[in-house]
Amino acid sequence: MGKLIGWIDDRFPLMKMWNEHLAEYYAPKNFNFWYFFGSLALLVLVIQIISGIFLVMHYKPDAELAFASVEYIMRDVPYGWLIRYIHSTGATAFFVVVYLHMLRGLMYGSYKKPRELIWLFGMFIYLALMAEAFMGYLLPWGQMSYWGAQVIISLFGAIPVIGDDLTLWIRGDFVISDATLNRFFSLHVIALPLVLIFLVVAHILALHEVGSNNPDGVDIKKNKDENGIPLDGIPFHPYYTVKDIVGVVVFLFFFATVMFFFPDGGGYLLEHANFVASDPLKTPEHIAPVWYFTPFYAILRAVPDKLLGVGAMGAAIVLLFFMPWIDRCKVRSIRYRSNIYKINLAVFIVSFVVLGWLAMQHVTATITLLSQVFSLLYFGFFVVLFITSKNEETKPVPDRVTT
Ligand code: HEM
Repeated sequence: MGKLIGWIDDRFPLMKMWNEHLAEYYAPKNFNFWYFFGSLALLVLVIQIISGIFLVMHYKPDAELAFASVEYIMRDVPYGWLIRYIHSTGATAFFVVVYLHMLRGLMYGSYKKPRELIWLFGMFIYLALMAEAFMGYLLPWGQMSYWGAQVIISLFGAIPVIGDDLTLWIRGDFVISDATLNRFFSLHVIALPLVLIFLVVAHILALHEVGSNNPDGVDIKKNKDENGIPLDGIPFHPYYTVKDIVGVVVFLFFFATVMFFFPDGGGYLLEHANFVASDPLKTPEHIAPVWYFTPFYAILRAVPDKLLGVGAMGAAIVLLFFMPWIDRCKVRSIRYRSNIYKINLAVFIVSFVVLGWLAMQHVTATITLLSQVFSLLYFGFFVVLFITSKNEETKPVPDRVTT
């Protein structure tokens, strides 16, 4: 084994990479529950790619055949149902994990200097992930695939001057058609996965350049021993590789429970209307996106003007990119920040969840009013943060991590 590694090492920096990123990457010793979600996101990415490869072996990207090919996978392909449910549950798992991963970043100020680029790469990953999920949802070519895409693509039509041409260009036809299905297939199976993999590599390289933050928000590089090793750091391998396996086991338990017992999530993960083949002449009674898009959909619906609604929805995502500059507090972790910050973040999380629920309801005057109130609370988070963070009253931050 040693000889083989030596042979490879003379030709490729195998041990150098292993040491740099695992055996000699010193991570803070106080990682908690919230630090599981990065490695879990990585796991779900791999699950999606592998299950996707097997799905493509039987799926037909053709408007005449797509719906039936998915039914064929479900009924006739050996274990086809398993592969499909792994992939559809994986989509939900991806967003659950990524939302919790982002929340960790917000709680511990992981986007602050010097980790701004890690956050920005993360936000681009989030955008790519949304595009990936949206395009994947068209592929089964059911009623919700068709009409969901119809609603979202038509939003681009609200853009002045170029709107109509832009929607035509995106669809590749005057209506959503075979041309749309084909290009979404191509983007979903090749282009976006490549972009995602590239961004994830950049995300982790940026992280390893500056080192991980931690629940105390303390800079562990400030206190090093005589060999230059952070006193509060432990090698990622074996300590966190082993710890992450615990996270993986617990995660897979939940994943398998959903996949085997509730694969459609009562219509929230696989919507009921999507078990009906797409019909361009029949609009489903109630069109709502899958749960992970609903908070933004609620913001869109809250604004009566279409263009302003699209703008508000875009702003709700774009503002997150600017977190490193909106939050001007010197202290990173929520543990040492003011009550104003804690309440502000709590209101933000509640408004995000409530908006998600509101978008799933039929539009009534009350639902619209509530959507408007919670949209204002959502945006209020950024405004309050920007105003209060500069001179925030914080608690003293310890010199070393607390365990
Ligand atoms: C495919 C999606 C993603 C993957 C595979 C991924 C992977 C990882 C991994 C492995 C880590 C190190 C372990 C950890 O700190 O948990 C990490 C850290 C981080 N990620 Fe992600 N990530 C993804 C998406 C995102 C998104 C969407 C954001 C935010 C917009 C984000 C922001 C961060 C930040 C700020 C850190 C540093 C955390 C710290 O040191 O406290 N990531 N990511």
